[in-house]
Amino acid sequence: MQTQEIPKLFLEKVTEILPEKEIDDFKKALVEPPLKSFRVNSLRASPKEVKESLEAKGFKLTQMEWYKYGFFVNAFGASLGNTLEHFLGKIYVQDASSMLPVIPLEAEEDESILDLAAAPGSKTTQIGMDMKNQGLIVANEPNQKRIQALQDNLERLGIINTVITRNDGRYFRKMPEAFDKVLLDAPCSLEGTMFKDEKIKHKWGPNFVSGSAKLEYELLKAAITATKPKGTIIYSTCTISPEENELVVNRVLKEFDIEIKPVEFDGVNQSNGLTKYKDFEIDKQIKRCVRIWPHKAKIGAFFLTKIMKK
Ligand SMILES: C[S@@+](CC[C@H](N)C(=O)[O-])C[C@H]1O[C@@H](n2cnc3c(N)ncnc32)[C@H](O)[C@@H]1O
Repeated sequence: MQTQEIPKLFLEKVTEILPEKEIDDFKKALVEPPLKSFRVNSLRASPKEVKESLEAKGFKLTQMEWYKYGFFVNAFGASLGNTLEHFLGKIYVQDASSMLPVIPLEAEEDESILDLAAAPGSKTTQIGMDMKNQGLIVANEPNQKRIQALQDNLERLGIINTVITRNDGRYFRKMPEAFDKVLLDAPCSLEGTMFKDEKIKHKWGPNFVSGSAKLEYELLKAAITATKPKGTIIYSTCTISPEENELVVNRVLKEFDIEIKPVEFDGVNQSNGLTKYKDFEIDKQIKRCVRIWPHKAKIGAFFLTKIMKK
């Protein structure tokens, strides 16, 4: 997609939250394909072993500064998805920003964790790896076709502490205080990725944003309800609209006894959550949310929040 094809209405929204001088860089970053990246599955191989074997095949790799299992692929002769490392589940091809939310989740071996919107399983498999295949993950996904991809990825990466459920995520409000931690990597309006993709770039519109925001709010309420006291909830999206990010978190802050925890990714150019947007009264804690702007961080646009239930 060309930058001049980005919807005017979308850009008008962005000018409300980004300084004028950054808009051109932002537009370019929004349509550029992301740097290819993958995550090493430490259940099957070490980062060192994978680096050596892929470099021997001609891949040029750079380790992510902020994540020991993450690598950028700068040049390659073949597709990573066709390598033995991929088929043996030693690597998982994953956008760099998609690796972020699992880091502050700090999954531990003996925990029960709900992944509320799980397919195709990039983050479920990352959580399973952090838990060393111990404890329990409930990976929920309502879309049957996407469940197939989730199942395939769990098998390929050797994740055996996970059960799959097929529910609308809002169902989990019926299971109060059932999980130590919940990840809600929410279905969103995809503003961080859609303008790179010819097939879905025309999907964007204000109704898509408002419909997504409503669902995200309901899913986040279910996620908080299903978390035990003192438990952690990570809420993330790959979209830019404050309606789906800060404003969703702002609403639940008023309704639940929760707190936003600060999150620092060492080596990532991260920005604070917005505390000013239109006429909304936004809680000061929202500053602790993390915004990833693609032109600053050089990875895909992303938003995430770490919430602690009191
Ligand atoms: C951003 S994707 C999740 C990506 C996944 N966490 C990963 O890292 O591989 C959002 C997912 O939410 C699912 N979804 C849509 N509506 C849902 C709902 N009502 N409850 C739970 N999940 C839903 C979509 O089918 C989609 O698979």
